[in-house]
Amino acid sequence: MSARAAVILAAGQGTRMKSPLPKVLHRVGGRAMLDHAIDAAEALGCARIVVVVGNHSPEVRAHVAQRLGEASIAVQDPPLGTGHAVLAARQALEGFEGDVVITYGDVPLLHAEDIAPVFGSGALSVIGFEARDPGDYGRLVMEGDTLAAIVEAKEASAEVLALRTCNSGVMCASAALLFDLLGEVGNDNAKGEYYLTDVVALARARGVATRAVMAAEDAVMGVNSQVELAVAEALFQQVQRETHLERGVSMSAPDTVHFSWDTEIEPGAVIEPYVVFGPGASVRSGARIRAFSHVEGALVEAGCEVGPYARLRPGARLRQGARVGNFVEVKNVEMKAGAKANHLSYLGDGVIGAGANIGAGTIFCNYDGFFKHRTEIGEGAFVGSNTALVAPVTIGAGAMVGSGSVITSDVAPGDLALARGRQEVRAGWAARFMERMRAKKAMKG
Ligand code: UD1
Ligand code: CA
Repeated sequence: MSARAAVILAAGQGTRMKSPLPKVLHRVGGRAMLDHAIDAAEALGCARIVVVVGNHSPEVRAHVAQRLGEASIAVQDPPLGTGHAVLAARQALEGFEGDVVITYGDVPLLHAEDIAPVFGSGALSVIGFEARDPGDYGRLVMEGDTLAAIVEAKEASAEVLALRTCNSGVMCASAALLFDLLGEVGNDNAKGEYYLTDVVALARARGVATRAVMAAEDAVMGVNSQVELAVAEALFQQVQRETHLERGVSMSAPDTVHFSWDTEIEPGAVIEPYVVFGPGASVRSGARIRAFSHVEGALVEAGCEVGPYARLRPGARLRQGARVGNFVEVKNVEMKAGAKANHLSYLGDGVIGAGANIGAGTIFCNYDGFFKHRTEIGEGAFVGSNTALVAPVTIGAGAMVGSGSVITSDVAPGDLALARGRQEVRAGWAARFMERMRAKKAMKG
């Protein structure tokens, strides 16, 4: 197999998004569209990946620098067309010998499997698709199995406009051929741009083989507006739902369950309606996530029950059989096997021992306004309802905390801690008080 490289175009302004966030950093399935494109390039085994960015979006540049390094950035300024954009990557690909695929930072649903067929034929290859509405797409003019030319809609005759086989924009050729041909592309056309698509006719004129490989229209969809972003998200979710169902995840209302790009759910897990998975969620076989829960950056092991109406945040690790009930928020806490927090609690930064029971309304007071502190609860401990545990604090194994306590110092294993006002009872006081007040009210009439 010859070496592979990818050039990802991301220099467009994305003005139609009407958003301060650069277009390619908008997310699909909780992951920036640009990262989806980079994921595909990596999965294809590309040895070099170059992202073409504009000077107008330093955030995109910083994003690429962080993920791939400075050497993967090429700047195109000003943007003079797709052919010009690819030429901007030439220097970054200096010395690369092999095939270069051109993909896009705003095409989030295109996976490595869809792109792979463009490689290895020796021909210049383009990914085409059958468009429901060909609109402004470039048309693929075929002569049998040969791709004769790509004609941009603005330049097309009525006859060519009637073609429904369109250009996805993805193209692959050897680096030497690609950059050689791009050197010949001019901008004498309706938009005054350097069209990447012109390399097809130029290749043919040299007798180089040119061909199209087809992909599904949904896979090649580009995102230009918030409406299209929402459509891409819906398509992404649909695929996730089907994939999880096929794998053996139970969902009674899959259309109401939302996944992230990296959600891991084992076969045999049950996901009830209206559950949202943020990035980094992992649910093991035999766990149940009940309705209206939000799970992000959390691990839920076998036999656990979460929700309804629970929130698991990053660092929540629920070991076998742990239970988190309604209106409980768990962040950066390991709940060991069989630990329970069934109602109305905030558990942040700490560990809860196996089989410990956390009463309704318990709060881990983890933040002093400057630093975060840990709460450690031993195995089999019992924390009564409405307890504030002011961290850092440790409750020993098998210890008990009386309800309504504000615990500021450690409780040793097996001890009982009570930290609340002592109850006072005044015999008959209420009855006497009420009688006096009723009489007063009656006098006033
Ligand atoms: C392009 C194709 C068209 C294809 C369509 C698919 C050309 C000439 N036409 O048309 O055949 O059907 O995509 O969506 O290639 N970009 C840059 N720098 C530039 C210009 C564009 O980085 O100077 C990037 C944009 O950010 C965008 C992508 O390239 O992501 C496509 O550019 P755009 O101008 O939208 O091309 P289209 O006219 O849609
Ligand atoms: Ca476009």
